[in-house]
Amino acid sequence: MRVFLTGGAGYIGSHTLLEVLSEAHEVCVYDDFSNSAPEALARVEQLTNRKFLAVTGNILDQMLVAKALVEFQPDVVVHFAGKKAVGESVAKPLMYYENNVVGTLSLLRGMEAAGCRRIVFSSSATVYGNPQYLPLDENHPLSATNPYGQTKLMVEHILRDWCATQLDASAVLLRYFNPVGAHDSGKIGEDPHDIPNNLMPFVSQVAVGRRKKLQVFGGDYNTSDGTGVRDYIHVVDLAKAHAAAISFAETHTGCEAINVGTGQGASVLDVVAAFEAASGRSVPNEMVERRPGDVAACYADASKAQNLLGWQATRDLADMCKTAWKWQSQNPNGYQG
Ligand code: UFG
Repeated sequence: MRVFLTGGAGYIGSHTLLEVLSEAHEVCVYDDFSNSAPEALARVEQLTNRKFLAVTGNILDQMLVAKALVEFQPDVVVHFAGKKAVGESVAKPLMYYENNVVGTLSLLRGMEAAGCRRIVFSSSATVYGNPQYLPLDENHPLSATNPYGQTKLMVEHILRDWCATQLDASAVLLRYFNPVGAHDSGKIGEDPHDIPNNLMPFVSQVAVGRRKKLQVFGGDYNTSDGTGVRDYIHVVDLAKAHAAAISFAETHTGCEAINVGTGQGASVLDVVAAFEAASGRSVPNEMVERRPGDVAACYADASKAQNLLGWQATRDLADMCKTAWKWQSQNPNGYQG
């Protein structure tokens, strides 16, 4: 198939690019490198020994994205390009609605011009809001607690409506839980430009000595050890879920939301212990107040992915930490060398 990846140089995008190339698909990456590095693409090319097209552009540039789509004639678009920091979305809501919602509309217009009717979208477990029950299945009520979550929810609605009017269209909404880890080679991984918001990159940077200590946000949750519980999913497993979603979209029409998680919860202290074991380094930490907006626990019922996509996670927390550490220790300053 011909696969068009928006945001294909980013953390999840680059791992998916590698997976899709290894399945012999033809690929065009469309990325503005606002939160990614061209070096990631060079490394994927080295690792796979395969060539692919890369267009530098923003999805808000409707003319450019349409031109790239019309020229490439994709069978399917995998749409990663978007902003993803919850705190930043609260501070800059318009930027989030513009990039994530208007950007997706611009992409869909371009897809219509190119006659492409299949899309795999990066959604998030954030669309479940505060869990009313666990594990979270796809029928759990939807809500959003911040502008970032609102944009994911809005795009889900847009894609549902888009599919409803075109009987040959297909949209797969992949609701990611907490993606972590890196490729086994240690050549590609997560490279946050600023101070990491998320747990695993922060822990990695403490272990490598780039930051002094981790703050554990809240030790008084109603969980096994009092710290927040999440469903961490290895980014390589997540990339394989995209490959499975691409195949699914080829043979199915309509709009499907599918959780991508392991179904297993791990606490903040579980992650710290697993990371210390994988790296042989200590991760100094201190317990501080809860972070506003955080929930106690969040983990997936991942059975729909298995039933519809034939996909399930295969990598455990130890493997997530091992690969995150390999990437971090080989690239202490990320792609900047
Ligand atoms: N945590 C810390 N210290 C830190 C960072 C995080 O203790 O420095 C804790 C959090 O309180 C939480 C857990 O580690 O209990 C995981 O936090 P992350 O920030 O890594 O992930 P979140 O679950 O908060 O957020 C993720 C995605 C969001 C998405 C959300 C809900 O990053 O994009 O899941 O799906 F919106």
